[in-house]
Amino acid sequence: MLGGACAAAATFSSTLFVPSSRLQTSTMETTQKINLQASGGHAEFSNTSGRAAMAGVGAVAGLAAAGVADKRDAKSRASMKAVGVRITEFGRIGRQVARTAMKDPETELKLIDARDSVHQSSPDRGKMAQITSHPAEMMPAFGLKEGTKPGSLDLIEAFDMPVPELRPHDVLIRVTSSGMNPVDTKKRKLNIFGPGTGPLVEPLIMGYDVAGVVEKVGSEASLFKVGEKVYAAGQIERNGSNAELVAVDERIVGHAPESLSATVASAQALILLTAWEGLFEGLGLTAFDPSLQGKRLLILPAAGGVGCYVVQMASKLLGLEVIACASAKDKERMMELGAKHVISSREPLKGQLEALGIDGVDFVYNAFDTAVYFSQYAEVIKPYGKIVSIVETDEKIPLTELMVKRVTFTWELMFTRPMMGVEVERQGKILNDCAKLIDAGMLKVGPVKALPWSLESLKEMHSLTETGKAGGKLAMTKEPIA
Ligand SMILES: NC(=O)c1ccc[n+]([C@@H]2O[C@H](COP(=O)([O-])OP(=O)(O)OC[C@H]3O[C@@H](n4cnc5c(N)ncnc54)[C@H](OP(=O)(O)O)[C@@H]3O)[C@@H](O)[C@H]2O)c1
Repeated sequence: MLGGACAAAATFSSTLFVPSSRLQTSTMETTQKINLQASGGHAEFSNTSGRAAMAGVGAVAGLAAAGVADKRDAKSRASMKAVGVRITEFGRIGRQVARTAMKDPETELKLIDARDSVHQSSPDRGKMAQITSHPAEMMPAFGLKEGTKPGSLDLIEAFDMPVPELRPHDVLIRVTSSGMNPVDTKKRKLNIFGPGTGPLVEPLIMGYDVAGVVEKVGSEASLFKVGEKVYAAGQIERNGSNAELVAVDERIVGHAPESLSATVASAQALILLTAWEGLFEGLGLTAFDPSLQGKRLLILPAAGGVGCYVVQMASKLLGLEVIACASAKDKERMMELGAKHVISSREPLKGQLEALGIDGVDFVYNAFDTAVYFSQYAEVIKPYGKIVSIVETDEKIPLTELMVKRVTFTWELMFTRPMMGVEVERQGKILNDCAKLIDAGMLKVGPVKALPWSLESLKEMHSLTETGKAGGKLAMTKEPIA
């Protein structure tokens, strides 16, 4: 197709961002006009030729390369790699255009993802690329290699991969410690909140919780300086911190609590955000609101990572009477954290509450498969009460059971803000506020079991978490382990 007309149609649902400066590159030899139109969900290239075509391709190369980056075109994909094309992001269109690009073996096409890390109504939105002669900088990582189907923990491998490209609002964090959460196992098994269980089109690196040091900042990042210690819960739609470096939107990053080691800090951000957002946003509660006095919140389970922060925030910041659902072995700890009553998750909730003289609860915070306890919540919640749940379910939820009492049900997912681009900066603020509360002793941090930084440790963390044997938070760290 070189020298001829070249056209590719795209199914964008959002505006295509193609700065004309991207078309002026040192490797461009021909100057034929590139006519690029993007409108109403359709992009078209015409009259492109030679290396000008490459530049045109480059302008949307995240999409073009994706065209050759699927299993149906393994040969083309290998060719792309052979000529130095580094595939970092994948899209849907441009098979034709990418093939055109590949026919010029002297050109190296380095794909960058210039999306702002916020809302992507289309995963292809705003991608662009540049032509470059620099080879990719590599880093060691643990995860699932491209082509692998998500599944058992044996699939986790050690390999080198390109250092993440920075988006304008990103910070590049040199990882000191990587925290473990149930979502890591769900991502590995199901590619949850992602494309599902088909073969991976790019390596999958888990480890969303992280603590480390800012190594580099993006072109529009202004909140952190190189060398600052930070913690974050990462972005489920991007690669995580089971690697030497991780790129995270600075607006969802916080200054690490000064009183915690990086190992302990790396196990906090995700559960802090979930507890905070669930209470203050999901249930819509306000700190130190006198009207909450005497109101009751039931949290199930209370002894888990999220639950321990829910108990503390609900009792100390909201002044609620907290009923914690936990095993007998955790009763004392729950009371120390601020619970007024501790009941068992394994016995009917209504009977246990009645035995305590409690006629109902105003709020429920659910941190277990939503379908399992739902009908029991419908029984014990008061009229006009509110339920927030943080755990997905494969079962049908009988919402009608809440109708007579006019109870509100809502979801909390701490990955929503960065995934959907909704006031992302609120997460950075929550993390900074929580760091201050931790440093001031207002929020107690539970024990974190530290494992040395290795592939074996990562597999052990996955195994302990999915078999329910973790018994608290886990982190894989480069710090010395006491
Ligand atoms: N939506 C979000 O943004 C978000 C964020 C974080 C976590 N999550 C999800 O929330 C859940 C909890 O996360 P986490 O980090 O707090 O987990 P965790 O620390 O691993 O929670 C463990 C707790 O689960 C309880 N448990 C186990 N089996 C139970 C059962 N059959 N009935 C009641 N409780 C049971 C245990 O309580 P006992 O000691 O009483 O057995 C234990 O304390 C996970 O599914 C996770 O994926 C969602």
